[in-house]
Amino acid sequence: MSAPIIAASARSITKSFGSGNARIEVLHGIDIDSYESEILMLLGPSGCGKTTLISILAGTLTADSGELSVLGEPLHAMKKSAITRFRARNIGFIFQQFNLIPTISCEENAAVPLLIQGMSLAKALPHARNSLDQVGLGDHMKKRPNQLSGGQQQRVAIARALVHHPRLIICDEPTAALDAENGQRVMDLFRDLMRQPGRCAIVVTHDHRILQYSDRIATMNDGRIVESVPTSQFDFDHHR
Ligand SMILES: Nc1ncnc2c1ncn2[C@@H]1O[C@H](COP(=O)(O)OP(=O)(O)O)[C@@H](O)[C@H]1O
Ligand SMILES: [Mg+2]
Repeated sequence: MSAPIIAASARSITKSFGSGNARIEVLHGIDIDSYESEILMLLGPSGCGKTTLISILAGTLTADSGELSVLGEPLHAMKKSAITRFRARNIGFIFQQFNLIPTISCEENAAVPLLIQGMSLAKALPHARNSLDQVGLGDHMKKRPNQLSGGQQQRVAIARALVHHPRLIICDEPTAALDAENGQRVMDLFRDLMRQPGRCAIVVTHDHRILQYSDRIATMNDGRIVESVPTSQFDFDHHR
């Protein structure tokens, strides 16, 4: 087998919030790599900085210092407008809180990344429907998000993140609101996507049921990566 190709790489990333006495440093120098065709899962207690880190990897938040290369682009050196364009084309982000638009239908929500890229709604909707079908929501396309359960809303958010075929999928607890069956379904879908060349996923999770779907597991604590190992070397008993 040839050596894995790095998809995203962070070096010495730091991030603080607030200023003066209220300033807290949340990331204390993060080094992490993710690889093409792999699912990297990120574990760690609440408040340790997982969401902050993946927001930086996705380019929605700027680090205070450090270097960041994502799909070959030096994000730390790029202008905001260039990052926004890069993100719209290459990254599918699944937010912890879903961030669906309440006033429009699920199919319109799932179409949003394509609309951002300038596609017409008429052209985008068939792609959105296809994406909703993939997550098992084919029967709910016309409903608004608040007419669906939490788990169904989470799947709309996943369909939206996949609709533009992003090379990098980043998700914050993608199965938190899902029962076992739908959690597996989503992870099977991610696994299938990783078989296409040049794809990569970074998944924050508390859900030990889905760790088996990962290729690599990184553990965070208090703003640092404390371990990063291939899943075959992960000590499941120790982390239970
Ligand atoms: N926008 C923000 N302003 C101030 N503090 C924040 C902000 N975002 C996150 N934090 C703080 O940073 C720490 C890490 O948060 P977060 O990255 O959300 O952790 P996790 O996702 O691991 O639960 C927490 O103490 C949180 O309160
Ligand atoms: Mg979080």
